Amino acid sequence: MCGIVGYAGPDRESSRGLEVVLEGLARLEYRGYDSAGVAVVTGGGIATQKRAGRLSRLTSALQERPLPGGSAAVGHTRWATHGGPTDANAHPHVSPDGSVALIHNGIIENYAALRAELGEGGAVFLSETDTEVVAHLLAAEISTAGSRGGAQALAAAMRAVCQRLEGSFTLLVVHADAPGVVVGARRNSPLVVGLGDGENYLGSDVSAFISRTKRALELGQDQVVTITADEVGVTDLDGAAVDATPYTVDWDADAAEKGGFPWFMAKEIHEQPRAVADTLLGRSDASGAMTLDEMHVDPSVLRAIDKIIVVACGTAAFAGHVAKYAIEHWCRVPVEVDLAHEFRYRDPVLTHRTLVVAISQSGETMDLVMAVRHAREQGSKVLAICNTRGSTIPRESDAALYTHAGPEIAVASTKAFLSQVAACYLLGLYLAQLRGNLFPDEVATLVAQLRDVPDAVQTVVDAADEVRELARELVDSPTVLFLGRHVGYPVALEGALKLKELAYIHAEGFAAGELKHGPIALVEPGVPVFVIVPSPRGRDQLHAKVLSNAAEVRARGARTIAIAEVGDDAVLDHADVVIRVPAVPTLMAPLVTVVPLQIFAMEVATAKGYDVDQPRNLAKSVTVE
Ligand code: AGP
Repeated sequence: MCGIVGYAGPDRESSRGLEVVLEGLARLEYRGYDSAGVAVVTGGGIATQKRAGRLSRLTSALQERPLPGGSAAVGHTRWATHGGPTDANAHPHVSPDGSVALIHNGIIENYAALRAELGEGGAVFLSETDTEVVAHLLAAEISTAGSRGGAQALAAAMRAVCQRLEGSFTLLVVHADAPGVVVGARRNSPLVVGLGDGENYLGSDVSAFISRTKRALELGQDQVVTITADEVGVTDLDGAAVDATPYTVDWDADAAEKGGFPWFMAKEIHEQPRAVADTLLGRSDASGAMTLDEMHVDPSVLRAIDKIIVVACGTAAFAGHVAKYAIEHWCRVPVEVDLAHEFRYRDPVLTHRTLVVAISQSGETMDLVMAVRHAREQGSKVLAICNTRGSTIPRESDAALYTHAGPEIAVASTKAFLSQVAACYLLGLYLAQLRGNLFPDEVATLVAQLRDVPDAVQTVVDAADEVRELARELVDSPTVLFLGRHVGYPVALEGALKLKELAYIHAEGFAAGELKHGPIALVEPGVPVFVIVPSPRGRDQLHAKVLSNAAEVRARGARTIAIAEVGDDAVLDHADVVIRVPAVPTLMAPLVTVVPLQIFAMEVATAKGYDVDQPRNLAKSVTVE
């Protein structure tokens, strides 16, 4: 989710690459803001500057030590995945001989093997990042080819190196001997070309250059682009020329930041497939065995764990609640779920054999910071599952497993929720593998099922029209109920929270079986009731029991909306509306069934004319107890 900008223009004294790149970074800072850096190509080679922290720290450093304008320039605002937010880990990364400067957005899944291979050859690395490996490879490729820079050589080196990379990447590179040239490449991460007059641009999205041009080129998967002042060339990885699709950007700058969506929340809902896919990247080896390299808790300690307590707030707590079912099923270890602000007051039983899992998107939720401190004072190990590197909670934990959802700007959490569930599942599979509860082939099967989830999420995201229509129909409902059973229960809680925090409508999530123990008294004709229906392929009559709960509310006049698997015809007799989701394994179902509820809440709030991204009374990170 990093911000990426490239500029190629005329090579003259008044070159303005640095100015253009800094302006682009300012527009992209929402994409990542834990460090920033630039590189420019001048007559004397490559000059760089980079700083941890916000973009303002970089611009201050540039005021102290100005760089020349540069006929070729690249800039980067970072959302850290590998290596914390430090000056050394900030991009650009420069090859040992100073000939190449590189910036990157994405995750190089096989970077550890490449880093080891280069290390055996004597390479010395200055950072913890996956990106620096690529800078080394590019310089080596160029020197092997015996050429000294130049647009063709740089593009050829980029093609050769990209063929060795696995994972997702947007790469921009400049070479000391190639003034006025920037070469880029993309796989699974965004990169667009801006077509200027006498100069050309590259960006992770059109915000990077929208103030200078609205003429753009789309780039496809595994394509390499070379820009100079007057030319743009695109090839595939074999070097064959490709005709890139030109288009005109019809957004203004504000819309561009939201990727053309009306709200950051809408954009982040659409980013969920990528967020889950990126969270899963690089966490299992070729055999499918789990390899969580951020764990840093001694395996013998993890083998001795006799209890897990998940601690979090709000949506993160519901993610932990979903994970409880999977982790208990796979690891046969009891999992408790606590709201962070209740945790230490209940005087929990914590020992050195308790693993506390602290889940937080921001990593700054004060209720959770205090819970983590309490757990560690009691001698328990704490693992943070967090989306923000360098934040307080992972820093104060024994270990961290990072989600790779990218910055979540909207106050209402969406892609963080899905990536938190995915990360919890990775933890559960890692523990099950380590403790011998699951055979390696069983783990590999479950990892493969997880890797199929992003496509299923995409299907739901793409089929939002019916949900949008339902939102308009129910916009004036005074109350809405949500029912679920098993992993559907925390989904019901999350669906109710979304509607409360976005549309300010009273909403409540229930365990479906709890209804007849009181809450059914709330049901009267016309009350909308969402029912998260388990797969008919499930077990323990889960499906049949939830359908009978749906029948109970419908018999009392409720407007029953079922979230049900494609092909589940039995639900048709028990619901007024059926929102379909793809068939996925029971434990993976929350990753798809929650999406229509996110969209519903957003669309109701939009229909009411509310600010979806910044709902009243709320903050993105609650840094007070
Ligand atoms: C979710 O939509 C809310 N914004 C809120 O419940 C949030 O999940 C909670 O405050 C926890 O925040 P964190 O994940 O940053 O710790």
